Amino acid sequence: MSEIAAAYSAWSPGYDGDENRTRDLDASQMRHWLAGRTFDTAVEAGCGTGKNTVVLAEVARQVHALDFSPGMLAVARQKVTSPHVQFVEADLLATWPVADASASLVTFNLVLEHVEALDVVLREAARVLARGATLRISELHPFRQYRGTQARFDGVNGAVTRIPAFVHHVSDYTDAAAAAGFTLRHLGEWWHATDEGEPPRLLVLEFQRT
Ligand SMILES: C[S@@+](CC[C@H](N)C(=O)[O-])C[C@H]1O[C@@H](n2cnc3c(N)ncnc32)[C@H](O)[C@@H]1O
Repeated sequence: MSEIAAAYSAWSPGYDGDENRTRDLDASQMRHWLAGRTFDTAVEAGCGTGKNTVVLAEVARQVHALDFSPGMLAVARQKVTSPHVQFVEADLLATWPVADASASLVTFNLVLEHVEALDVVLREAARVLARGATLRISELHPFRQYRGTQARFDGVNGAVTRIPAFVHHVSDYTDAAAAAGFTLRHLGEWWHATDEGEPPRLLVLEFQRT
């Protein structure tokens, strides 16, 4: 198992209960964005403990929820039991267990800071999406990464675990997406209510598969 997958499995029992404004902001923005939309097949890349899977299950006829951390998936499987949601242990850097051109939505939420090769995962997103379909990326804003913020958690012994992370500039996302066959539809930046005077916390990019 990779160091990142193992770290998330160690974090999984506490992930939902820890104070985490970035997770909470992502959840509220995702719920807001999904409201009023419907999808045939959605692919959630890096579903974690299923906080967004719950909402995707309400708006999509079928959901493929992929993650490579057995611990995170175990929590998610307890949270979401709908038969139209399939949780699959899968590394996003390998071929996804999803058919070509079969999806109407692919989402990444707080995942890509752990993926160095954006080109590899965005090519997979392009492969599974039908033409005209939507790719949504919601990540820790690079302005925060420049200041040293990265996913981290406190272990049971009080030691802090920093999960390996890679800085992606805004242009890294837009260039990799363009090369994979996506057109940018919208770029959003979001702050938590407590972030006054701070750089944006979340970068949200919405693309269309061309
Ligand atoms: C911060 S959590 C976010 C989980 C969920 N998307 C959310 O918003 O709560 C990051 C998740 O990405 C998963 N992840 C990171 N790199 C991955 C990879 N290469 N393949 C599959 N999952 C990966 C981790 O296991 C973890 O569950």
